[in-house]
This record gives sequence, C-alpha cells and structure tokens, in this order.
Amino acid sequence: MAESYNSVSKWFHWITVGLIAVALPMGFVIKYVKDSDKMPFYAIHESAGLTILLVAVARLVWRWTHPPPPLPEHIPAPMRLAARVNHWLLYAALIAQPVLGFVATNAWGFPLQGQTAYLGFIDLPKIMEKNVPLAEAVQAAHNTLGWAIVALLAVHIGAAVFHQAIRRDGTLLRIV
Ligand code: HEM
Repeated sequence: MAESYNSVSKWFHWITVGLIAVALPMGFVIKYVKDSDKMPFYAIHESAGLTILLVAVARLVWRWTHPPPPLPEHIPAPMRLAARVNHWLLYAALIAQPVLGFVATNAWGFPLQGQTAYLGFIDLPKIMEKNVPLAEAVQAAHNTLGWAIVALLAVHIGAAVFHQAIRRDGTLLRIV
C-alpha cells in the first residue's frame, strides 16, 4: 500500500477541487448571462477565485513544511517527471489566475467592493484607477490561462483515472 498524504494536505486538495468546480465553469458562463443577472455570477466567481489564491498559498507553505510522501518505486521516471511538471504548473496557475482576475477587475473600474465585495461583505481596497487598455490585456491573459487550466486539469484527472483503472497502483488512494 503506497504511503498517503497527511490529512491537512488531503483537505487542501479537496477544498481546492470544490472551489475550482465553482470558479472555473462560472468564469466561462458569465459572458452568456444577460447583463441584469450578471452581478451574482461575478460575486461568486471572484470570491471563489480569490479564496483559491489564499488556499494555494497556505497549501504551498504547508507542503514546504510537511513534504509529501515520495512516489512509490514502481512509478517510471518519465511518469514522475510528468507528475511533477503537471503539479507545479497547476500551483503556478492557481496563483497567477486569481491575481490576473483581481488586476483585471480593478483595471475595468470594478474593484471587489459593494455587490462584488469579497465573500459578500469584505470591501477590498481598489489598487488602481480605471485603465481599459490594461484591463483588456490582463483579461485576455486571464481568459487564456482559464483554458490552460482546463488542459492541466484534463491531464491531472486523466492521470488519476489511468493510475486507478489501468495501472491499479493505488496512486489515487494517496490523496483520498
Ligand atoms: C483560480 C481562480 C480563477 C479561475 C480558475 C478563473 C477562471 C476564469 C475563466 C475560465 C473565465 C472565462 C474566460 C473566457 O471567457 O474565455 C474567467 C473570466 C473572468 N474572471 Fe476569472 N478565474 C479565477 C479567478 C478570478 C478572480 C479572483 C477574479 C476577480 C477578482 C476573476 C475575474 C474574472 C472576470 C471579470 C472575468 C470575465 C467574465 C466576463 O465578463 O465574461 N477571476 N475566469
């Protein structure tokens, strides 16, 4: 039986899954929602997204102070490398994406205040004046990274299914 992650790491992982399950699809659908109904979508997307940033930072601090169990010996070197690259790209994306979203909303002139306050009641400071060219550039990066996250998750989930259903090596059970 492969050695498991500690229970705090497991919680961090599954809380992140829950938050991504909210933030990612909502980000994609906002543009299809009619203007008069958009506000709750922005509010939920932005609060869930910013919470992902807080969880990702706390999770990395925890990981640094509590290193994860090594991968079992039978996992071949190319697979280990692929897992490492996928995991670090996911961490980087889960930090960069909320930062880009936060800068974009500020540059659009809609800081997280009032109807889009963090968690519905915490007004965050506005970090800049409205700047539409900057907003367009940062929003484009946010949208592109949104698709990159979909690709990274497809690899991540595909690998979990591969380990569980085909190699049957217990890798998935390390995190549940
Ligand atoms: C990890 C966290 C986040 C993820 C995965 C995420 C993902 C996405 C995705 C996939 C889109 C749609 C892209 C497209 O239309 O092609 C989007 C749009 C957007 N996101 Fe995020 N986002 C996150 C965090 C944030 C945060 C923290 C904010 C603001 C504080 C934010 C603000 C926005 C805005 C304003 C849009 C444009 C919605 C529209 O009007 O169409 N996002 N996001």
